[in-house]
Amino acid sequence: MISPDVSLVDLQLSQPLSLGVLASGKGSNLVAVADAIAQGKLNAAIKVVIYNKAQAQVKEKAAELGIPSVFCNHRDYPNREAFDQVLVDTLKAYQVHWVIMAGWMRVVTPVLINAFPDHVINIHPSLLPSFKGINGVEQALAAGVKITGCTVHLVRPEVDSGPILMQAAVPIFAQDTCEGLHQRIQQQEHQILPGAIALAAQQEN
Ligand code: GRF
Repeated sequence: MISPDVSLVDLQLSQPLSLGVLASGKGSNLVAVADAIAQGKLNAAIKVVIYNKAQAQVKEKAAELGIPSVFCNHRDYPNREAFDQVLVDTLKAYQVHWVIMAGWMRVVTPVLINAFPDHVINIHPSLLPSFKGINGVEQALAAGVKITGCTVHLVRPEVDSGPILMQAAVPIFAQDTCEGLHQRIQQQEHQILPGAIALAAQQEN
């Protein structure tokens, strides 16, 4: 397993970062960021979690962590831009400065990206620029590559592009299933996401 120097997480920030998390799934990355904050590795506060799937487990994770959560159903809006405007309004209402897409299964538009210039961060389960889009883990397995991993990057309008903040590599073994490989990738995601957030904030200063 190849991963970055975890001391990168321990960057000195003058002010606590004000984070908003967008998530559609289990919320293990939300927990990883919350744990890093609780352990004093990341000087930040998670102001709100927005989720777009009513059954998403991230809702319970947020409740356990004592973080407010807001359900925004994309099906209630006529297009992506209208949905993103609701996200922006909600994030601003919670005084969020950094938007963390932690398993957000929606394509975002310039409405969101331009409301938080260079402050929208995504985590993706492959070594970008390889295997963009959905099913990044399946794509790597199908391609027969021997190393995959995860990437944290700043968000740009083109899906899974944008400046890379941090990556971790994960070997693929002959007997790997998609599920098992994804679990190992997620272990690395949880390591690099807090550090990448701190790095993005440091680069701004
Ligand atoms: C992660 O593997 C992330 O890379 C992908 O969605 C998954 C979210 O996992 N974009 P979780 O909900 O944080 O557990």
